Amino acid sequence: MRPYVLASAAVSLDGFLDDTSPERLLLSSPADFDRVDQVRAGADAILVGANTIRTDNPRLRTRSGPDPVKVTLTTSGKLDPDAKFFTTGDVAKLVYAASPVVPSLAASLDGLAVVVDAGDPLDPHRMLADLAARGIGRLMVEGGSAVHTLFFTEDLVDELHLVVAPFFVGEPDAPRFVGSGRFPQGRMLLVETRQLEDVVLLRYLTGQAAVDYRRLREAVALADLCPPSTTFRVGAVITDAAGEVIATGYSGEHDPHDHAEESALAKLDGDDPRLAGATIYSSLEPCSARASRPVTCTQHIVNAGIPRVVFAWREPDLFVDARGAELLRGAGCEVVEVPDLAALVRKANRHLPGVG
Ligand SMILES: NC(=O)c1ccc[n+]([C@@H]2O[C@H](COP(=O)([O-])OP(=O)(O)OC[C@H]3O[C@@H](n4cnc5c(N)ncnc54)[C@H](OP(=O)(O)O)[C@@H]3O)[C@@H](O)[C@H]2O)c1
Ligand SMILES: [Zn+2]
Repeated sequence: MRPYVLASAAVSLDGFLDDTSPERLLLSSPADFDRVDQVRAGADAILVGANTIRTDNPRLRTRSGPDPVKVTLTTSGKLDPDAKFFTTGDVAKLVYAASPVVPSLAASLDGLAVVVDAGDPLDPHRMLADLAARGIGRLMVEGGSAVHTLFFTEDLVDELHLVVAPFFVGEPDAPRFVGSGRFPQGRMLLVETRQLEDVVLLRYLTGQAAVDYRRLREAVALADLCPPSTTFRVGAVITDAAGEVIATGYSGEHDPHDHAEESALAKLDGDDPRLAGATIYSSLEPCSARASRPVTCTQHIVNAGIPRVVFAWREPDLFVDARGAELLRGAGCEVVEVPDLAALVRKANRHLPGVG
């Protein structure tokens, strides 16, 4: 298990993160700084490399929500206890250090940070497993160059927020967004472009996050097939371990009381071996209480032994108290929420009271 990793960077038109002057180069626009602040507030932890702490001395705080836990990594152990990273914010500070420097760093940062042995050489996978064990579900990685290069070349990024500023740096010794290395092959999935004053935000998903987004989009589209209904219009797609679709369904498919997940599951044998490696995509959080039938979709999913559930829109408490995600997690399922697609699902359910 590792956290969901969101890499975030601002670059010049020629791909630099900074120039070579001692002051930090401002690349973002004011509106983009506000956006970054909100993304930070939505993360459980925020990570920068030790060199960014040395050169920029960032606080890594937020104005729009609770401060995330601060995380850094170092091989040299050269971290100043007076850096704002350590002295500001009433949150945990975690330093992942290569084994040889752990004892001296633990002494110099005593009472300021928790120093964690991350192996020798420092192992980013070990670091992420440790973060997950500490309850970090969503990690924002803010650079710099060496750290982005490490995360991308180790294939540890799920989402990238890249902001392009409208000017050149043009200095060969300035840090680039990433250095050279063996990067994951294939095209990332572009899910959003947004203008914020004079900069542009490009938002991409990679790997499993991109696969999930595409399949969930199909589930959302299936809801268009639902007959006119007074309850939720929902679509569901079930894939096998290889990501191939093995069943689909939508609410009201055969009977007005059919739920999408139930309808898709009804097309598979209860002892189908593919269920043990399957993922079910549903445009809405699976129901955890229903008036129409005795078995909820949450229970159907648990009974089928499906280990992974991905949904877009958290069920609003319109008809019942919705606890599907919570119950599924409690039953050992991995539950992934993709709020990016929630607006589309809301739109398909505008007919419901309080949704429009
Ligand atoms: N525009 C933006 O969005 C943005 C964001 C952040 C930073 N920046 C800029 O980026 C520059 C700093 O970038 P940087 O590349 O020099 O440093 P960095 O990525 O911030 O930090 C790299 C440091 O991380 C530690 N580390 C430990 N294990 C590592 C591994 N396996 N791979 C890579 N790093 C590892 C090392 O620390 P030790 O040296 O202590 O061993 C290494 O020097 C600054 O100019 C800053 O302003 C820009
Ligand atoms: Zn249901």
